[in-house]
Amino acid sequence: MRPLDLRSDTVTRPTPEMRSAMAAAEVGDDVLERDPTMAVLEARVAELLGLEAALWVPSGCMGNLIGLMLHLRRGDRFLAPAQAHVLGSELGTGAWLAGGMPEALAWEGGLGRPTPAQVTRAAGSPGPYYTLRSRLLCLENTHNFAGGTVTPVAEHRALVAAAKAAGLAVHLDGARLWHAAAALGCPLAALTEGVDTVQVCLSKGLGAPMGSLLGGSAAAMVEARRLRKMLGGGVRQGGVVAAAGLVALDYLPRVAEDHAKIQRLAEGLRGFGVAAPVPETNILLVPVPKAAAALAALEGVGVRALPVGSAIRFIAHRDLTTEDIEEALRRLEPVAHLLRSA
Ligand SMILES: Cc1ncc(COP(=O)(O)O)c(C=O)c1O
Repeated sequence: MRPLDLRSDTVTRPTPEMRSAMAAAEVGDDVLERDPTMAVLEARVAELLGLEAALWVPSGCMGNLIGLMLHLRRGDRFLAPAQAHVLGSELGTGAWLAGGMPEALAWEGGLGRPTPAQVTRAAGSPGPYYTLRSRLLCLENTHNFAGGTVTPVAEHRALVAAAKAAGLAVHLDGARLWHAAAALGCPLAALTEGVDTVQVCLSKGLGAPMGSLLGGSAAAMVEARRLRKMLGGGVRQGGVVAAAGLVALDYLPRVAEDHAKIQRLAEGLRGFGVAAPVPETNILLVPVPKAAAALAALEGVGVRALPVGSAIRFIAHRDLTTEDIEEALRRLEPVAHLLRSA
């Protein structure tokens, strides 16, 4: 039985078009000078994001870390929505490498979303010399562990305005910004308005084998290139992977298809009596009483998923067809009782 892999949208394999683009890629030494294909990808993504420049980095974690390192010094504080990837899933690098003391903001604005008033409150005002200085707001759109939830444009603007008024820089973890823009039907650039830096992943949902881009001002990207080298992320003939990234961007108009797939999965599960919410993007979180037992049963019927706290996370992606989702539902029906809340 072929397992249906809904653990993540990172499990996709490069398409034949990506592989042939990789084979044919024009390359150079990106550490000595510039790799021409990486430069094309960086310019294309900067334009999509409505920013001056972008820098290719091997992973989303490195893109976020460089973003944080650009803005933080030891003794600084940064704010991020509770359960943000930078808080819990990047091994504390925001603190021990970028030097910032993290502060989680509860989701008072809705799932995954703090309010502008919380930003103002948490930023506080400068205290005596021995207090932390609030320097940065790190947003996440979509918010992975809240269930792929979207921050709409007006709310994004209000959060950025609150941060700026409090003297904070803004970094956006946009690993799945593609999905937020597709759900809202807005240009990507509307969701980067006012940010100082943004990180987007080509390996999540779009199908590239690796690679993220950090976007920002041209001056910030010059400094970011130094930091990338410092972290060991300067690559030589990176055009080979950048070529796959350029092909991955062709999937942008189809991202919403993955939202429809996961919505169908959620609807089917509700038909089995499971309390599945309506997904906003390509992620579905199902709260379960016993995650480990449920995951083992799912594996047994050939459906792969991941635990997120006390919930099970299913993610749709381009390597799953709509027929695969129907097949997943057929396989899940006999074990659906394990996905029902107590
Ligand atoms: C919201 C978010 N940010 C950052 C990352 C890190 O990306 P990478 O795995 O490429 O380092 C992830 C990975 O899943 C993510 O979901």
